[in-house]
Amino acid sequence: MVVLGIESSCDETAAAVLAGGRRILSSIVASQDDVHRPFGGVVPELASRRHLEVVVPVVERALAEAGVRVPDLDGIAVTRGPGLVGSLLVGCAVAKAIAYVYGTPLAGVNHLEGHIYAAFLTDDPPEHPFLALVVSGGHTALYHSPAPLRYALVGQTRDDAAGEAFDKVAKLLGLGFPGGPVIERTAEDGDPRAIAFPPARMTDGARDFSFSGIKTAVSLYVKRHDPLSERAVADVAASFQAAAVRMLVRRTVRAALDLGTTRLVLTGGVAANGPLRAALAAEAGEHGIRLHVPPPRLCTDNAAMIAAAGTARLLAGERAALDMNAVADLQLAA
Ligand code: KG4
Ligand code: ZN
Repeated sequence: MVVLGIESSCDETAAAVLAGGRRILSSIVASQDDVHRPFGGVVPELASRRHLEVVVPVVERALAEAGVRVPDLDGIAVTRGPGLVGSLLVGCAVAKAIAYVYGTPLAGVNHLEGHIYAAFLTDDPPEHPFLALVVSGGHTALYHSPAPLRYALVGQTRDDAAGEAFDKVAKLLGLGFPGGPVIERTAEDGDPRAIAFPPARMTDGARDFSFSGIKTAVSLYVKRHDPLSERAVADVAASFQAAAVRMLVRRTVRAALDLGTTRLVLTGGVAANGPLRAALAAEAGEHGIRLHVPPPRLCTDNAAMIAAAGTARLLAGERAALDMNAVADLQLAA
């Protein structure tokens, strides 16, 4: 089964061709970082315009690299939500147009399910049941998946998403956009124990996450110690990253132990973070929990993961109708 995936939910225009639900024949990701960098964050209107400019060439390149023609496709999978509605609409329109012209079976995919399916594109795919920590720029949530295509939400952030916190702290430190990779690089020269950035106290809902306390503590520190030396910036970046990683690792492992789950998936853009990958692997290992983490290029937004989730849905007999619409706040599970 050869499936074309299209992803345009935020600021990456991506297309990929996947065979048999697992073999990546091509995966093209056109980043818009240069478009949004001057503004220090994603500008939705500029994002949808750039998607419109590049989506057809990106799809054409994915097909060419895979050596596949549109009539040979067994299916098309497209991100239907959640995301920026103007951006989602571009991918949906292209996918629906191809499906209409060629009669290709169409699947609408939840972006977060896509992130989870990235774990199935490795040599070590997870078996069900598993717990998945999805950490991205827009979401930070724990999903329990008892069986294929079934999810229950077991915890989520009460305020900022983890990636959002990385992006905001990078801005506070004048490090630029996007924040995650630059914080990770800057933190390499800093001491993660230099400053204690305490998390917000949560008296209930121990499976939830919160990053606003850590972010506020960083903001106050930066104001108080202005101007920061290069060394101090590295220490703040390292100490913030350590606090964010601690929040994610502790809550996730505790939830896995509470639920008696022995398999864990780590995915989403923030899962590209080396210290997070290492810390969760170590902590999970200590408790006899198997951790499955896609390689970094499959953690950040891409279309191979969308094609993977779409293949599973098409094989389950799902077909999206041509009146399928983008849904900005599409939920994966309640
Ligand atoms: O999954 P993703 O590519 O897009 C969304 O669905 O949001 O995630 C993007 C987020 C951004 O906030 C970015 O700063 C963060 O992932 N990110 C990282 C790293 N690479 C990307 N955060 C921490 N460390 C990284 N290496
Ligand atoms: Zn994403």
